[in-house]
Amino acid sequence: MSDLTNQSEPPYIDPSLVPYFTLYDGAKIPGIGLGTFGSDNFSAQQIGDAVKDAIHIGFRHIDCAAIYRNEDVIGRSLAQVMKEGVKRESLWITSKLWNDSHAEESVIPACKKSLSDLGLDYLDLYLIHWPFPNHHAAGVDVTSRDEHAQPYIHQNYMKTWRQMEKLVELGLVRHIGTSNMTIPKLSALLNDAKIKPCCNEMELHPHFQQPELFKFVKSQQMIPIAYSPIGSPNRPVRDRTADDSVDIEDSVIVDIAKKLNIHPAVVCVKWAVQRGQLPIPFSVKRHQYLASLQSLLTPPLSDADMDRIASIDRGCRLIKGQVFLWKPDQNWEDLWDVNGVITPA
Ligand SMILES: NC(=O)c1ccc[n+]([C@@H]2O[C@H](COP(=O)([O-])OP(=O)(O)OC[C@H]3O[C@@H](n4cnc5c(N)ncnc54)[C@H](OP(=O)(O)O)[C@@H]3O)[C@@H](O)[C@H]2O)c1
Repeated sequence: MSDLTNQSEPPYIDPSLVPYFTLYDGAKIPGIGLGTFGSDNFSAQQIGDAVKDAIHIGFRHIDCAAIYRNEDVIGRSLAQVMKEGVKRESLWITSKLWNDSHAEESVIPACKKSLSDLGLDYLDLYLIHWPFPNHHAAGVDVTSRDEHAQPYIHQNYMKTWRQMEKLVELGLVRHIGTSNMTIPKLSALLNDAKIKPCCNEMELHPHFQQPELFKFVKSQQMIPIAYSPIGSPNRPVRDRTADDSVDIEDSVIVDIAKKLNIHPAVVCVKWAVQRGQLPIPFSVKRHQYLASLQSLLTPPLSDADMDRIASIDRGCRLIKGQVFLWKPDQNWEDLWDVNGVITPA
């Protein structure tokens, strides 16, 4: 996975030294990615600049999505680093199908739009962002609903998935996967898919370890991609509730961080990779994304510290997804099939 760039001046981490995960088809995915959802706090240009600089310092994996509304700016950064000598095949670029494009006729055009914005002729990974076709205007509050909202309907999801499979057949996408799925939804998909999902992107951080779904995903030879791996301390106000806890203030995380002389956020990143999930922390600050990348080259956390972190799971979901609910008086838990079956319509 190494490639030569003219950016070998420090700080530069040789990408070939960064741990990677191996997908079920043998492909290697760099073991940390840079998130690109700015939580309304950062401009597209700041994020595009961070992508370029992160690649300069050794990142090779970028987690994008059409709904983040910055793929065109990120595309310009990708074009520049490739002009400087970073090889396309050394990069891992993920994008995601937004909920307004689940219809059969919309999937391929939506992917082509992301490709054109990113300036690429293929994606390494394309995910269905949410298993619901429900959408809403950007930045709305959690009480907002799509008047055409629907529950999860497996036949419809499979129609979308068939188009995802077609994207692989067309060579526009190398791998396909899911996001925000549950065990019953994934089981139904695994039963019916011609091309199995290789990854499930899911919320994972020390206070939200999702042990059952994590184990299930691994048992299917899929890679769990960990979103909000630091507990999204900068997420929009609309995504906060009074019960939410703060991972980077947890005494166990703070204690390990002090002992290792690293930031608590970096403990979360190290823990993620060591547990077997692939973190995609967001940051536009070089000292932060550099520290996250560097931490993967330092000695692992001790077994005792891994055990201590395993014990602080609070089941605290931060990204609850309320805006995707499909009928009045529902609870956000309905989106997550907490009873072990797909929540009925
Ligand atoms: N598939 C999905 O549905 C989905 C949902 C959510 C997110 N995602 C993806 O996951 C990515 C990450 O999630 P997120 O943005 O919610 O949260 P996150 O990565 O858990 O938290 C990001 C925040 O952590 C802090 N941080 C990052 N690195 C740090 C470091 N080394 N040291 C100290 N602080 C550090 C920064 O806070 P400050 O800015 O305060 O310094 C940054 O804004 C997103 O950008 C997106 O790509 C996907």
